[in-house]
Amino acid sequence: PKVILAYSGGLDTSVILKWLSEKGFEVICFCADVGQQHEDFEAIKVKATNTGATKCVVTDLRKEFVENYIFEALKCNAIYEGRYLLGTSVARPCIAKEMVRIAKEEGALYVAHGATGKGNDQVRFEMCAQALDAKIKTIAPWRDAEFIESFKGRSDLLAYCTKHGIPVDAKPKSNYSIDENLFHTSYESGVLEDAACTYEESMFKMTVSPKAAPEESTDIEIEFVKGVPVKLTNKTDGTVKTDPLELFMYANEIGGANAIGRIDIVENRFVGIKSRGVYETPGGTLLRAAHMDLEGICMDREVKRITEGLASEFARLCYNGFWFAPEMDLIRNSITYSQKDVTGVVSLELYKGNVIVRGRTSPNALYNPDLASMDIEGGGGDFDYNPADAAGFIRINAVRLKTYAALRANTEK
Ligand code: ARG
Ligand code: SIN
Repeated sequence: PKVILAYSGGLDTSVILKWLSEKGFEVICFCADVGQQHEDFEAIKVKATNTGATKCVVTDLRKEFVENYIFEALKCNAIYEGRYLLGTSVARPCIAKEMVRIAKEEGALYVAHGATGKGNDQVRFEMCAQALDAKIKTIAPWRDAEFIESFKGRSDLLAYCTKHGIPVDAKPKSNYSIDENLFHTSYESGVLEDAACTYEESMFKMTVSPKAAPEESTDIEIEFVKGVPVKLTNKTDGTVKTDPLELFMYANEIGGANAIGRIDIVENRFVGIKSRGVYETPGGTLLRAAHMDLEGICMDREVKRITEGLASEFARLCYNGFWFAPEMDLIRNSITYSQKDVTGVVSLELYKGNVIVRGRTSPNALYNPDLASMDIEGGGGDFDYNPADAAGFIRINAVRLKTYAALRANTEK
């Protein structure tokens, strides 16, 4: 039978590739280009076929990833547990979708991945795959009793490679697991499992340390149309980007150069395990800050309140692997509708790890300076705002508070 293996060229997936082909599978490797830096896809293809794959398909998903996944998350300011911008979570459905497409094209009934049995990624891959093709079967070697029995640690994996002539790096590339894409780079497990352990500065790939960031700020302007960034202008040097992928990559570049978007957290995995993760999300962090600011000037208060609730659902669903769920469709459509007036320009200053908002304009501003002014009496014009009315507004709102206080006074006597 044919199997599509999500292949990275690393130690684990190379062993899995050989193991599957020894079991009699015809293995087709699939490698998603979601913007990992310094990845040599040609070398990966060669290694895959040398290790027994009948072919290795590399798909450039970068544009698709930015437009239909990253921008979807940014449109609702999605954030998991108040800190994590979902860089890995949002990439999984994008990768799984292409994997299922290839499986259909190749007439394969199986897909395989190298995610562990303890994490989120297994859930995301498989939930997405099943949502997209009810018949597809997954092989997860890290949950297979026989596989786990044969490979108890890195030394078993290395011995297997030696036996089968699979080339491996003499030293592990890093002391932790790295997941890289356009949106972020994540670091977890290995030496990071000690939640108190401080990582080395050299670990980071996308950002410099605030201490190494320039003394001068970078001043930029970001224009949004219906909640989506369409133009990024660097006021300091005149660079302008409008293509979605280029714009996002450029946001990463200037965000990274100014030390934007690093976090170190302990988060809750869907499977119930707590996990320590370190992330860098430079472009996403500054675009999110700008987008949230723009909503301030052109989104209605009650719409904002409701979309905040939707955003927290979006984050939870995305993190837990429910990208292709009906409730996710509902939320994404609602969010898109909520963005119909979120158009305008936000000015930002990037400086030593900080995203500082300096101003914003919108053709759809609900903000009315006359109405807000402390120097103008009334100022409502057609809106008929009369400050004297506020006294009644306050008294009526206070009725409940007075009733409650009276009850407390009685019961606590
Ligand atoms: N903890 C993050 C998440 O669940 C990142 C996972 C990183 N995955 C990996 N295979 N290294 O979204
Ligand atoms: C893994 O367990 O394979 C990586 C971490 C995760 O999926 O949460």
